This record gives sequence, structure tokens and C-alpha cells, in this order.
Amino acid sequence: LASLKIKIEENKSLPKAEKSKICKAYEKVGQRVKVSGWIHRLRSNKKVIFIVLRDGTGFIQCVLSGDLAIAKQTLDLSLESSVILYGTVTKVPEGKNAPGGVELAVDYYEVVGLAPSGEDAFTNKIAEGADPSLLLDQRHLVLRGETISAVMKVRAALLRAVRRVFEEEHMTEVNPPCMVQTQVEGGSTLFGFDYYGEEAYLTQSSQLYLETCLAALGDVYCVQESFRAEKSHTRRHLSEYTHIEAELCFLDFNDLLNVIENLLVKSVKYVMEDPVAGPLLKQLNPNFKPPQSPFMRLEYKDAIEWLKEHDIRNENGEIFKFGDDIAEAAERKMTDTIGVPILLTRFPVEIKSFYMKRCADDPRVTESVDVLMPTVGEITGGSMRIDSTEELMEGFKREGIDPKAYYWFIDQRKYGTCPHGGFGLGTERILAWLCDRFTVRDCTLYPRFTGRCKP
Ligand code: 4AD
Repeated sequence: LASLKIKIEENKSLPKAEKSKICKAYEKVGQRVKVSGWIHRLRSNKKVIFIVLRDGTGFIQCVLSGDLAIAKQTLDLSLESSVILYGTVTKVPEGKNAPGGVELAVDYYEVVGLAPSGEDAFTNKIAEGADPSLLLDQRHLVLRGETISAVMKVRAALLRAVRRVFEEEHMTEVNPPCMVQTQVEGGSTLFGFDYYGEEAYLTQSSQLYLETCLAALGDVYCVQESFRAEKSHTRRHLSEYTHIEAELCFLDFNDLLNVIENLLVKSVKYVMEDPVAGPLLKQLNPNFKPPQSPFMRLEYKDAIEWLKEHDIRNENGEIFKFGDDIAEAAERKMTDTIGVPILLTRFPVEIKSFYMKRCADDPRVTESVDVLMPTVGEITGGSMRIDSTEELMEGFKREGIDPKAYYWFIDQRKYGTCPHGGFGLGTERILAWLCDRFTVRDCTLYPRFTGRCKP
């Protein structure tokens, strides 16, 4: 009853509370501030209520005592309620741990949106150990948890880092279309749709468009969604993923491998140096070791020998032979056993795309590369591109593609061709490796894969 009577009011004689994001409040010891956010944790210790407040920039431990702690309004608070807390930032005593090393001594607060308690409480909605598919239905709530939100922060830092490296290399960012009428990586994974009565697809890769930009802009890159109607339900395949792609001109295959290596080494370094993402990365993947240059370089034909020696079989359970595709399981076994990043090069023509340039010293194979990382396998695919129209036409023929829709791509060879090459990185694959996630589904905001297009 007494608790009902307590009125929560601001004491106007206190210094004015300055509005502050949580990460800024860490630096405001001794000052009165007001912080807005969501109740991340809530604990009551008889006369004291402890709240961990979250606002996306950080967490802050807040203490409600005296009348504030026993008021009915406080007893009704629940996880995920949004509140505005007013109070003085104090340093936590030596030896005590708290985010930012501070605590907020709350003197007044407002409730913005009370979240349900009981049956419909937040914790019941995302119960630990729940079926992954139920958790995906509740993705909008799961995102608020510490793990996925940390992955998203690292993701943002990774994209910043990648852009920074590309900018250092004087490359220009472009935004190719998502709605296209050409394939890049095989017809079987195309998502088709009706485009005002014409057949069109969601892009599988922006590569062909990037190639057309070289003569206009020089080296280019894009960060764009790619779409693949993957039939297989694996932990590293999404139907929609964020594709980081780059295309460079007047370089040779060895230069291209160096560009890829430099990008991976530098962008990981920048993420680790990032004041927000660095510590989160450490938290998610305490044993992470940044990749070191130079990467191991392994030719496809030697990989086949390695697989044979280690009695790793192909998808049909047969001994590997030259020309076989090294599918996911075998690739991962090999990468995990070797245990370091690998640039796997020179794949046979038949198992690669129509546009890949053949090696001058061995026309059975192409100037192609996959980057393989322990725990996830392939994170990057790239190649030198055919730069002569004639050879390209042969490629179309081999793959049974009608070149008509590709006239603009062919023109790139016709009007001042040049040696060029590029690569694509799967953002979610790199993140799975960086953040030590079992599946790429953890590394994108709202994963799309066979059978899932919601929320
Ligand atoms: O090896 P891919 O198919 O290569 C291309 O698309 C080239 N045209 C890129 C280029 O040279 N510009 O795909 C490149 C990368 C893969 O290494 C992988 O990391 C990622 O894209 N990837 C996927 N990620 C998630 N889900 C899928 N279904 C993916 N398919 C490819």
C-alpha cells in the first residue's frame, strides 16, 4: 500500500540532467545525465533495484534506491520496457566490474513503453535453447540480445573497413542494379520474376556490371545484395546475401591474388582496431588469430592430390580425380585440417563460370581463385576475366548461354579491351569466420534461405 502511494517526481532543485547516449555517459562521472533506452537486465535486492540499460551504444548499470526502489511503478517494470533514467554518473569502486566502469545513481525516471510481463514476457519469447526456427520467427526480438547485436556491430565495422581499404586503393564505389536480365553464376540458382511482362532475375553477382565500369571509372567496387535460389540447406548458404565485389583493370593474376590478400588482412586489422567492434570481436571469438600475409597458395591439382592422400572422398564417395568439383564437405575438411587461410587457384574450365580466363601455360585450367578459411571454407571467389570477344563467345557456347542479352558486356571487349579481374566476398561468410558463428544465418539481420522469407 505504501508503495502505491509513492509518487515518482523529479526534484527540481537538482542540477539539470543533460541528455546523453550511454557511451558518452561513461565520460561524465560526477555529472547528472538522462539516458534513454531499454531494460536489458533487471534485478531486485530488497531495497535496491539494479537495471542494466541498453541504448545500442552501450550498456550502463543503474541503481534505484530509497522510495524509487519500492514504488509500485518500479515493481511493475519488466525486461525490454523503454525508460528514461535521470541520475548522477558515479565511478564503480576498484575491483568491481561495470560497463564503462560507471554506475548511474538514479534519482528520477520515466516509463516510455512498458513491456509485458508474465506469459508474454520477453524472456519467454526468446527462451534459451529454443528451436532455431522459433527463434527465427522471433528474430526481431532475438536481435536485441547481446550476441546477435554484437555480430551486427562487427558487421558494420567490417563494411566500413572494407570501404576504407578500397578507398585507400583509389577505387570508386558504384551501385549496380538488382533487377537484371543476365546470369553470372549459372542458371540453376536464378530467382526469376515478371518484369512488366519480360523475364528478369534478381542479380546473382554484380560482376558483369562492374566490368563495364572499368573504362569509365577505373577500379570499382560495390556492396550489394546478391540472390541465389540455393536448393541446398547448408549452414553457409543464404538466398540473399551482401556481396562485396571488386573489379580491377590492367593487372595480372598474381596482382589480383595480392589485392585479395591485402583486403582481407587490412580490413580484419581495421575491425580489430575499431573501438566498438574490436572488443566485441574478442568477446565473440576469444581465440581469433588475424590472417597473416602471405597466405598459403595451393593449386587445384595439388589440392586433389592432398585430398587423395588424406582419403577424403568426393560427394559420390569416390576418390577425387582432376575435374571434380570440391564440394562443401571435402573443402571444409581440407581447410580445417590445414588450419590456415588458403588461396586455392587454377580450377578446371569445366567447373567454373563462362567468363573465366584460361591459364596461358595450361589451357585446361583458369586464372581463378577461392579463398578458404578454417571453420567456414570458401569466403571469396574471383578470377581474371576473358578479355577477347572470340574467347568469350566460346565460353557462352560451352555453357549454353544465348549471348544476345550480353551485348553490353561483350562491348567491354570491343571498345578498348584490357586485362582485368575481380572477386566477390560473401559478407556473412567472412563474419561467420570472424565472429566464430556456426552459420551465416547468424550474420545477417533477417536471414533468407529455403523456406524462410519472414520476418
Ligand atoms: O563464388 P561466387 O559465386 O562468385 C561470384 O559470384 C563472382 N561473380 C564474384 C566476382 O568475381 N565478382 O560468389 C562469391 C562469394 C562466395 O565466395 C561466397 O562467399 C559468397 O559469395 N556466396 C554466398 N554467400 C552466402 N550464401 C550464398 N548462397 C552464397 N553464394 C556465394
